[in-house]
Amino acid sequence: MTAHGANSNPLRDAADRRLPRIAGPSGLVIFGVTGDLSRKKLMPAVYDLANRGLLPPGFSLIGFARREWQDEDFAQEVHDAVKQHARTPFREEVWQQLVQGMRFVQGNFDDDDAFATLKSTIQDLDKSQGTGGNFAFYLSVPPKFFPQVVQQLKKFGLADAPDGSWRRAVIEKPFGHDLASARELNAIVHEVFAPDQVFRIDHYLGKETVQNILALRFANQMFEPIWNRSYVDHVQITMAEDIGIGGRAGYYDGIGAARDVIQNHLLQLLALTAMEEPASFDADALVAEKAKVLGAVKLPKDLGLATVRGQYAAGWQGGEKAVGYLQEDGIDPGSTTDTYAAIKLGIDNRRWAGVPFYLRTGKRLGRRVTEIAVVFQRAPHSPFDHTATEELGQNAIVIRVQPDEGVTVRFGSKVPGTSMEIRDVSMDFAYGESFTESSPEAYERLILDVLLGDANLFPRTEEVELSWNILDPIETYWDTHGKPAQYPSGTWGPAEADEMLARDGRSWRRP
Ligand code: BG6
Repeated sequence: MTAHGANSNPLRDAADRRLPRIAGPSGLVIFGVTGDLSRKKLMPAVYDLANRGLLPPGFSLIGFARREWQDEDFAQEVHDAVKQHARTPFREEVWQQLVQGMRFVQGNFDDDDAFATLKSTIQDLDKSQGTGGNFAFYLSVPPKFFPQVVQQLKKFGLADAPDGSWRRAVIEKPFGHDLASARELNAIVHEVFAPDQVFRIDHYLGKETVQNILALRFANQMFEPIWNRSYVDHVQITMAEDIGIGGRAGYYDGIGAARDVIQNHLLQLLALTAMEEPASFDADALVAEKAKVLGAVKLPKDLGLATVRGQYAAGWQGGEKAVGYLQEDGIDPGSTTDTYAAIKLGIDNRRWAGVPFYLRTGKRLGRRVTEIAVVFQRAPHSPFDHTATEELGQNAIVIRVQPDEGVTVRFGSKVPGTSMEIRDVSMDFAYGESFTESSPEAYERLILDVLLGDANLFPRTEEVELSWNILDPIETYWDTHGKPAQYPSGTWGPAEADEMLARDGRSWRRP
């Protein structure tokens, strides 16, 4: 028997993995289709997938909302959204095919007639478009509507797949407000859908650069031996945005930066950066390792010293005057919602004991950038002249998630000349230079995966609950300790965040 087993053909298997993954007969129902996410991300992603030939010919898209629209009005909305936000060029022939399967169902979420219409619309599409009974229901609605929508799906038998077909539920964050509400929500969803029917979206996991974290770590030999407490000094995970809350006051106020972004995106980045190698790239194996590391996260004892929250004040952003958070439309002038959060965490395991992970995120910061910086200890000894090397920084591997996607390795190098002067230099990998293919949008990848039933890039219940478990004590502490520190728009957050690192003899990177 060969190492690959008697029946496998390694060449054929390798070739198969490179074939494009194309969805089989299917359709997507979007609840909350008039929302921002749907217009800016979901509709364009569906078109981009169609344009790349990754959707079946009869693919169907049903919009469900209160708006008094006919199918044509809905199609026009999708058309406009695609023209404005799609990644790939508009092609009339692709559009003409896609529009064949577009339907709109008008109604409230508690409206039985509307769900009856949805059911018959799905049955009609099965006949006219050959969707084979395979439908995903995308809940792009505030969580308070989840119970109603899933119960209605159950009542009308829409969650049960007819013979040989599938039904799936796609859920957008926030998955609850804290651990207790997340558990309630999970219970409600799982009353109707089995765990393998539920796909929770954390769109960061759909980003190419985020998927590349595991490739970098586990497809190579040179990083993993030093990826531990013996060599790493600390890790910084930054997600900075230059935008404010825009028109999202209703969603954002009372939620804040830590719940909006740290609970999901940043803790997922931490998990991918810190987890052990999974036995395979299967969803079960990935979840097992992510859950293990999230379960090992430890909060420092004094949350006053290990966390900072901030709120943007008026300032300047990109040469324009920006108003403060409390002056934004729809925000309570006494709001204590955080628009900036920085947290220091530890991981209690053999690999990471004693290595701090600093997480920070904020709106209206200096610029938009997301990165993971693994910062290494200084060389234990330097044979070179001290005065010449004191400016030398620490070695770092920086995974540039966005917008300048790639990886940077920073190290010291001799400056050309007659003395042994060492200076920091960097070696860059940039997607744009190394690959001709452009990266798909996160939502393209994730919608395709839902249609294929591929759950690798979707957080499971355990991860969501473990992440709340990390955040809950911090939110409780904040609720009872003062107010967020103000920082001027366009800066890098409150001074307290710099002080937090300075106490540890470190400083934030200025990406
Ligand atoms: C969302 C948050 O999940 O991510 C937003 O709710 C944030 O507040 C957005 O702006 C950022 O996503 P991206 O892909 O632009 O980094």
